Order: sequence, then structure tokens, then C-alpha cells
Amino acid sequence: MAKYKIAWLPGDGIGKDVMDAAKIVLDKIKLDAEYHPGDLGWEFWKKEGNALPDRTIQLLKNTDCCLFGAITSKPKEEAEAELDLSLKGKGYVYFSPIVRLRQEFNLRTNLRPCKAYPGNPLNYRNDIDLVVFRENTEDLYSGVEFHPLPKEVMDVLVKNHPKMKRFEKTSTDDIAVSLRIITRKASQNIVRDAFEYTKKYKRKSVTVVEKPNVIRETSGLFIREARKIAKNYPEIKLYEANIDAMCMWLLKNPLDYDVLVTSNMFGDIISDLCAQLVGGLGFASSGNIGDDYAVFEPTHGSAPKYAGLYKVNPMAMLLAVKLMLDWLGEKDKAIRLESAIAEVIKEGKVRTYDMGGSSSTLAVANEVARKL
Ligand code: NAI
Ligand code: MG
Repeated sequence: MAKYKIAWLPGDGIGKDVMDAAKIVLDKIKLDAEYHPGDLGWEFWKKEGNALPDRTIQLLKNTDCCLFGAITSKPKEEAEAELDLSLKGKGYVYFSPIVRLRQEFNLRTNLRPCKAYPGNPLNYRNDIDLVVFRENTEDLYSGVEFHPLPKEVMDVLVKNHPKMKRFEKTSTDDIAVSLRIITRKASQNIVRDAFEYTKKYKRKSVTVVEKPNVIRETSGLFIREARKIAKNYPEIKLYEANIDAMCMWLLKNPLDYDVLVTSNMFGDIISDLCAQLVGGLGFASSGNIGDDYAVFEPTHGSAPKYAGLYKVNPMAMLLAVKLMLDWLGEKDKAIRLESAIAEVIKEGKVRTYDMGGSSSTLAVANEVARKL
């Protein structure tokens, strides 16, 4: 029996293209693993009214971790329109399977390293080496949302908060509310993970990114917990920044920052910004990490216009494989893979279109494999 069981979820669009690239590299590096394919994505929403079927959840429960490609997801009306005729009007509601996976398996930490590999023509600046820790289970992604806003919810809000009064007369259909839920526990966990990582990899600072001057209660709670946790790590500097200013500072002085930690929504925004600093979506990988399970993915989506063309850059996916190897404790393999990726980028002979080349997804994977 193989040492590891890995769930294999290509999902939609270019998810399959980049997962094929991942397989080339995993085979070459001889990870002692078996790969178990699972159903997930838009096709299953259309056919079954569920983009993450229960059998896939079961499959994941029987594996050590999961590699995931990408999914297509669309707004509510479009999702309903594409549902199989036999399922229409039966109350099926589309949920993003990756958001559900994060919540279902309590994959509370989203780890997103953003490193400018030397020689990448897409680097915004050389030497950028940022790591974003994004809380992965709550905040505006909790899914507690109302539209129309039920009368009783409106009444409770008006009764309990003076600032709600000015909305009181708005008709229930003309107002939507999404709750930003932030708990002390989740804030502590993500900040602690960021500090532990900073300590482990001998990095210098953690910057907590929120907006406590305006979003006083939720960002306030997050920042206060961060300050408490920081006291346990006197050798690591804690900086605080507002999300809006941070977007500016990251463009102006990206080398001043090291590890960033934030809540779910701000983390989503800032990690796309950081990804662009180091070459864009073709280079951005992420780990969704819980206490005993993890899902690794490139952060890009399914890019439908490139689906099946084997044109897109597999580097983000290959870097996600590297994160998986790290998490499994396969340090040597992780280091070898990262070196091979770095070498291929530096040599610049085999590049996909986004880097100005014309090589295919699989040609890049084969070149990385050749260096292993
Ligand atoms: P996207 O990330 O799929 O693609 C946007 C553009 O970025 C592409 O057209 C392409 O030009 C470029 N790009 C993406 N990946 C690339 C790669 N590996 N190499 C080179 N270029 C790459 O985002 P978009 O178009 O906004 O969304 C498409 C679908 O993907 C939507 O249904 C969206 O909901 C979904 N999505 C899924 C995500 C996930 O699976 N985690 C994340 C983001 C979007
Ligand atoms: Mg995103």
C-alpha cells in the first residue's frame, strides 16, 4: 500500500490541464502515493444540483489530503438557469464547493506564499517574498446573508443598534445584508499560525491587515487578539496596517513586508494583489490547512476560454504541489521541486504564453520534471 492517499479533484476548465501537469511532476519525483479522483464542479451542479457531491466528501474523508484544480462558479440567477430541467424549481441553491470544503473540513488557514522567482519577466520587482495568511472559514464568507431582509431581522437590528434606524423605512426587498462574522477563536488561530510560520522559517515580521478604525467591532476584535498573541513571540515584530493603505504600500514598498495575516475577505483581496506582484495568477498557489486535513490548489479559476487547450501556466499548480509536499513532511522532495521550478523560470527556455513564451502546460511540467 502507498504511504499517502491523495484525493484528486481537477474540477472545471483549466483545472484538468494543470492537474495533468501536476501528475507528470509527482510521478517523476516518485511520491509514494495513490491518487483518488473525485467529482466536483459545475458539471455536477448542472446534473445533480450539487457541485460537491456527498460521495466526494466521503472520498476526502478517506484520504490524507487533496489536490484541487479549479472550479467554475456563477451568480445565483445564472446558476439556476443552467440547472438540469428536472431539477429546476426544486430549491437547489448553488454553493461554491471550495468555500464549502473549507468550512466542512475546518480548513481554517489559507496559506499563500508569493515569491518573485529570479528571471521571471512578470515580476513586479525582484526579491519580493511575501506570505499571506488568510482566515478561511468566516467573515463575509460565513454565508449568513439576507435578501430580502426578513422583517423580524430588521426589527431586531433596529431595536438593538441605533445606526440601523436610518434603514428602517427601506422595503425588505430593497435591502440586502451579509454578516461579517469574526470569532475570537478563529482570529487567534490564524494569527498564531502566522507567527508559528514566521518563527519556523526565521522570518522577521508579521503585519496584521484589518480596518479597525471603521469596522470597529470585527476588525477590532481581530487586532486585539493579534496583539495578545504577538506577546508570545517577542523576537518577531508586529506591524498593523489598514487594508486600503496596505494595497498602496504593497505596490510602493513590497520589500518592506514579510508575513501578512488577515481575515477572509481582506485576505482574498490582498492575496490577488500579492500574486500579481510575483507574476500573476499563473504563479499563485495556496494551501487550505486544518488540524488534520488540507487541500492544495492554484488560486486561479477555471479560465474557461483556455480550457483543454493546455496553454496556461502550470507553475501555480506545481507550487501547490510543493506546498503539499511540505505539509506531508516530504521536505527533500519539496525543496527539490521548488529548485526545479526556480531553474526552469530562470533559464526561460520553456515558458507559457503569459511569460511571453509559446510552450504548452505539459511542456513546462516536463521541463520541471527533467530537472528533478
Ligand atoms: P480565472 O482565474 O479563471 O482567469 C482569469 C484570467 O487569468 C484568465 O483568462 C487568464 O488570462 C489568466 N489566468 C488564470 N490562470 C492562469 C494560468 N494558470 N496561467 C496563465 N494565465 C492564467 O478567473 P475568472 O476568469 O474571473 O473566473 C473564471 C471562473 O473561475 C469563474 O467561474 C470563477 O468563479 C472561477 N474561479 C474559481 C476559483 C477557484 O477555483 N478557486 C478562483 C477564482 C475564480
Ligand atoms: Mg480570490
